[in-house]
Amino acid sequence: RGHLWPTMELWPKGYDWNKWFEELDNNFAARPDDLYIASFPKSGHHWSFEFINMIYNGNADSVNKSKLENFFEMHEIREIEEMPSPRILMTHLPYDTMPQDVINKKCKIICIMRNPKDVCASHFNHVRGIAEYKYDGDWNHFFELFLKGEVENGPWLSHVKDWWTHCKDNPNVLFLKYEDMKHDLFANIKRVGEFLGKTYDDDLYRKMAENSNFDVMKKNAKAKELPGIFKTTDGTFFRKGKIGDWKNYFTVAQNERFDAVIEKELKDTGLKFQYE
Ligand code: A3P
Repeated sequence: RGHLWPTMELWPKGYDWNKWFEELDNNFAARPDDLYIASFPKSGHHWSFEFINMIYNGNADSVNKSKLENFFEMHEIREIEEMPSPRILMTHLPYDTMPQDVINKKCKIICIMRNPKDVCASHFNHVRGIAEYKYDGDWNHFFELFLKGEVENGPWLSHVKDWWTHCKDNPNVLFLKYEDMKHDLFANIKRVGEFLGKTYDDDLYRKMAENSNFDVMKKNAKAKELPGIFKTTDGTFFRKGKIGDWKNYFTVAQNERFDAVIEKELKDTGLKFQYE
């Protein structure tokens, strides 16, 4: 399953993915009160980590730690086993590599999805910004890699389609879209709170939305990133935070090709994305 990370020999350093999956198969036990936040990279994972922690903590204070500290596949299984309950585990694993125990134990899962054109543009900046990738390809080069699925965690299309088809009718799984969160963060945070069984009043949900909006999070970016991973001091986990930035990257021809591949495949799934 190491093929899922074609560029991943760069990160996390020295990881033996086959060993990690072997450990996962043999030694991992899900706990019924685990919460998994699943997404393809660059879909709003850090953002959701922020407000979900607020919901867990019952206040609107920033958690001031990196999501990477709770990153499932970045930890050894014994470290995950040592985490106190309730665990929030952030993951980019494709559905078919998730331990079945998570589904069997009816753990709650939140799936975050974002329109793939913005994911692609965001991903391009991400791999160029993180020193360890040693990637200095241009946009046209990266665009082809993305369409072929030769990026971190493999093809976007199968990642999103698999999570959706397997979980859309599972009451323990909540799907959130980046674009919906941009349009109405308060309503979406409240949805998550209700999904997690909380009964907070709207004032608190409103405060959580204010404190996890893009500008606030960007200002506080340093506390949320592992030191030294970016080539620049710009926090690339908090770059632009907009819908439609892809228009600054895609040529007309690239856009047409992208639509022909992606939209065709999504047609029968009922999944729709907003691009602007
Ligand atoms: P851009 O690169 O388009 O700006 P992830 O956390 O999954 O890696 O996703 C990163 C993307 O989410 C980046 O997109 C980042 O700017 C955006 N993002 C982070 N925090 C956000 C927030 N509070 N509101 C909106 N977008 C946010």
